[in-house]
Amino acid sequence: MSEKLQIGKFTLPNRALLAPMAGLTDAPFRTIAANYGAALVVSEMIASASLVCGQVDMVRRLNKNTEFLHKKNMPHIVQLVGNDEEWLKIGAKIVADAGADIIDINFGCPAKRVVNGFAGAALMKDAGRAFRILDALANATNLPISCKMRLGWDDNNINVVQIAKLAQNAGAQMIVVHARTRQQFYKGKARWELVAPVVKALNVPVIINGDIVDEKSAKLALQKSNAAGIMIGRAALGAPWLVGQIGAALQNKETMIKTPNKRQLKNLILEHYQNILSEYGTYIGVRVARKHLRYYMQRAQMTIDKNIMRELLTEQKPNNVKNKIKEIFREQTYLAA
Ligand SMILES: Cc1cc2nc3c(=O)[nH]c(=O)nc-3n(C[C@H](O)[C@H](O)[C@H](O)COP(=O)(O)O)c2cc1C
Repeated sequence: MSEKLQIGKFTLPNRALLAPMAGLTDAPFRTIAANYGAALVVSEMIASASLVCGQVDMVRRLNKNTEFLHKKNMPHIVQLVGNDEEWLKIGAKIVADAGADIIDINFGCPAKRVVNGFAGAALMKDAGRAFRILDALANATNLPISCKMRLGWDDNNINVVQIAKLAQNAGAQMIVVHARTRQQFYKGKARWELVAPVVKALNVPVIINGDIVDEKSAKLALQKSNAAGIMIGRAALGAPWLVGQIGAALQNKETMIKTPNKRQLKNLILEHYQNILSEYGTYIGVRVARKHLRYYMQRAQMTIDKNIMRELLTEQKPNNVKNKIKEIFREQTYLAA
């Protein structure tokens, strides 16, 4: 199997990708993951109709500042979600004008508010609409398109091979499969073996996703699915280096990416914190950062006093938060990451 991954004209440096996670994998997070060697970092999903209507958070998710990616020769991949061809076509144009290199379409989101609007994973239930959407998107843009999907709607409707083929026929140049059904949401185990028939049926790269947390699970998922690459979501929270680290390990490179030591982790968190404030402004940034601080502390397995944790997660003033982070790192044992 090739060590690198080809998506359209783009050659990715390894086979480990960061999954899109709305509310978490924003530009500050993706920047860190990219710096640590993730092969591709996908934007949070952007609702096409809300984007077209100028909804502020959707516009933010476009991340027009793609300089850091291009310096690394990485394509900027933006994910759209929607169920209406016309909104998606206009959305695709906005995304392209904002500097995207690849447009991904979301066929996997299980959230009620998304599937009730017949978008996300609901498209797995309606092959006709799924094709119309992919076809409209492919005709609306010259950019390569990709599609992220699930195994199907539920256990009685595992139709990922059909939908993935249809996506390929519409022009998708990469398919990501989260190896669960919509009805599973995030429960139960990802069934990597059910992605093997997709790989067999397709010519474009298929990426396996779901429950990959370390080198061992990455290798097992690849072995069971024969996929061309892996995508990691939740395991990277509080550990944005993990994707690059696994990507390097899959290449058996001698230049392994090391888990940050205590001092490096403290500096990484402080830098991430500052970047979040710059991205969102202080008021929202302080609140957005709390999710990440919680993940970092959990991941580092620091036994932090409940009161100190509460202070960290409720403090309003950025300087006080930064001082708390420093204090925690001075006083706590860093067990593992
Ligand atoms: C909080 C959260 C937000 C997510 N947002 C998105 C999203 O915007 N687009 C998408 O395609 N998948 C989204 N996902 C699904 C992930 O990309 C991924 O498919 C899923 O978490 C399984 O992979 P994992 O086991 O590595 O986390 C989200 C998952 C979580 C937990």
